[in-house]
Amino acid sequence: MEIIVSPSILSADFANLERDINKIKSAGAKWVHIDVMDGHFVPNITIGAPVVKSIRKVTDLKLDVHLMISEPKKYIKDFINSGADIVTFHYEAQNNCVCEIINEIHAMGKMAGLSIKPSTPSSAIKDFIPLLDMVLIMTVEPGFGGQKFIHECVSKIADIKEYSRLYDRDNLIIQVDGGINDATAKICTRVGANSLVAGSYLFNASDLHCAINSLIK
Ligand code: DX5
Ligand code: ZN
Repeated sequence: MEIIVSPSILSADFANLERDINKIKSAGAKWVHIDVMDGHFVPNITIGAPVVKSIRKVTDLKLDVHLMISEPKKYIKDFINSGADIVTFHYEAQNNCVCEIINEIHAMGKMAGLSIKPSTPSSAIKDFIPLLDMVLIMTVEPGFGGQKFIHECVSKIADIKEYSRLYDRDNLIIQVDGGINDATAKICTRVGANSLVAGSYLFNASDLHCAINSLIK
């Protein structure tokens, strides 16, 4: 399976999102990762559905929306109606209605992702694997860009890969997010990750095209 790089615009210039998204596209990316934070599930506030809607108007890249919010169920429709192609929510945010949320995303014809924080074991989401398009293993504590990769999370990538085999879900997207650079990307892809989110590493690079390639080659 091809490795998908999803540059995170959390590290972009918010006054020039269109310009920065075009840069990502010219550099070869097919996805753009949008970090939604509510100041409650995580201690930071970023982007909401209106911004996703504006981004939708200026790009045909796949909008990979990562919801780091407390009550994702309430907002799924808003984000899909705003143009999200993939909606990823956190298991820890609403673990009592995970199936319902996944079904709602699918009913609207979009891809569903489920994410776990560094302290949540992979076994917590095992049962949902048959329903999901993507699992997102956080490799930093969600909330901020530019943090250091937590190596203890790597074994969880391997666990999810194992579960995907168990359930005959070879096409499951296993995404990692946080502290991804040319070195940590390899550590993750070696054990089964096939989608890499990177923010600061890409946006601090002098050559975005080379930086994207350095993650996958
Ligand atoms: C963090 C976000 C990430 C963030 C990654 O909570 O989910 O997507 O942008 O940033 P880097 O790549 O700088 O760790
Ligand atoms: Zn993210």
